[in-house]
Amino acid sequence: MAELIGQISTSHVPAIGGAIARRLQQDPYWKPFFDGYPPVRQWLARNRPDVVVVVYNDHGLNFFLDKMPTFAIGAAESYISADEGWGIPIIEPVRGDADLSWAIIEGVIAEEFDVTTCQEMSMDHAVTIPLQLLWPDGPAPVRVVPVSVNTVQHPAPSPARCLKFGQAIGRAIAAFPGKARVLVLSTGGLSHQLDGERAGFINPEFDALCLDALIDDPARLAGYSNHDIVALSGTQGLEILNWITGRGILGGGAAREVYRNYHIPISNTASAVQVLERR
Ligand code: DHB
Ligand code: FE
Repeated sequence: MAELIGQISTSHVPAIGGAIARRLQQDPYWKPFFDGYPPVRQWLARNRPDVVVVVYNDHGLNFFLDKMPTFAIGAAESYISADEGWGIPIIEPVRGDADLSWAIIEGVIAEEFDVTTCQEMSMDHAVTIPLQLLWPDGPAPVRVVPVSVNTVQHPAPSPARCLKFGQAIGRAIAAFPGKARVLVLSTGGLSHQLDGERAGFINPEFDALCLDALIDDPARLAGYSNHDIVALSGTQGLEILNWITGRGILGGGAAREVYRNYHIPISNTASAVQVLERR
C-alpha cells in the first residue's frame, strides 16, 4: 500500500535558482528566505519519502498558450529539466515512477477527470527549484510524478475542481498496491502579480488566510472563484491552485501544520513554505 506521509508547499520564484547558483544563502536579502528550509529538510530526514507527487504549473516549457491542458500527468521513467527562458541552471534528470503515474491516471480518469497523459515531460523552474530547496546537496533521492495544473491561462480550473481533482489523486495513491511513502510537493504562490498595472501586488492578509485554511478548512478556499483569487492574490497568485490540489491529495480531514515560513518579498512574490501532516 502506498502511504501519503505529508504535503510540502513552497514558492518557486526563478531568482531562487540564481541565488543558489551564486551561493547567496547568507546574503541579507536572501537569508530570511533560505532560513525557512532547514526545518523542512529535518522533517524530510525523519520522514523519508520514496516518491514525490509534484503539483505545479508549467510556464511555457511543455505547454504554451496554444496548447494548454487543464490537468496533465507525467508517466515517464525519467524527466529532464530545461530552461524555459530565465537563464537559471538546469538540474540532473530525476527518476519517474511510471507504475504509480499510470495508477493515478487510471484512477482519476475512472472518476471522470479526463487528464492529458505525458509519456515525455520536462521540468521547468516550478519543479527544479523546489527540488533544490528540499535536497540542496544534489540529486533528489526520490522518484517523481509530475502533475501540471493550468494556473496560467484563462479559463483555469476552479479551486473547488482542483480540490476534488486532488482528492481523486489521493484515492488512487491510497489504492496503489506498491509499497511507497508518498510526499505531495505543491509549488508556486503565494500572492504575486508579474505584469500589468498591479505588478508587484502582494496581499499578506489573504496569504495568511490561505495558509490557515489549508491546515483544517480547505473547503473555505474551494468557495472562492478564480476571479476572487486573482483580485485578492494577483494574476500569478492563482498558483495557489497547486497548493489546493495538493491539499486534496493529502486528504484526511483536518491536517496538522508542522512548520511554516512566510517572507516578503522575494522578487515580486510573497514567498512561503508550509509542511502539513495528516492527523
Ligand atoms: C516570479 C514568480 C513566479 O512564480 C514565476 O513563475 C516567475 C517569476 C517572480 O516573482 O519573479
Ligand atoms: Fe510561477
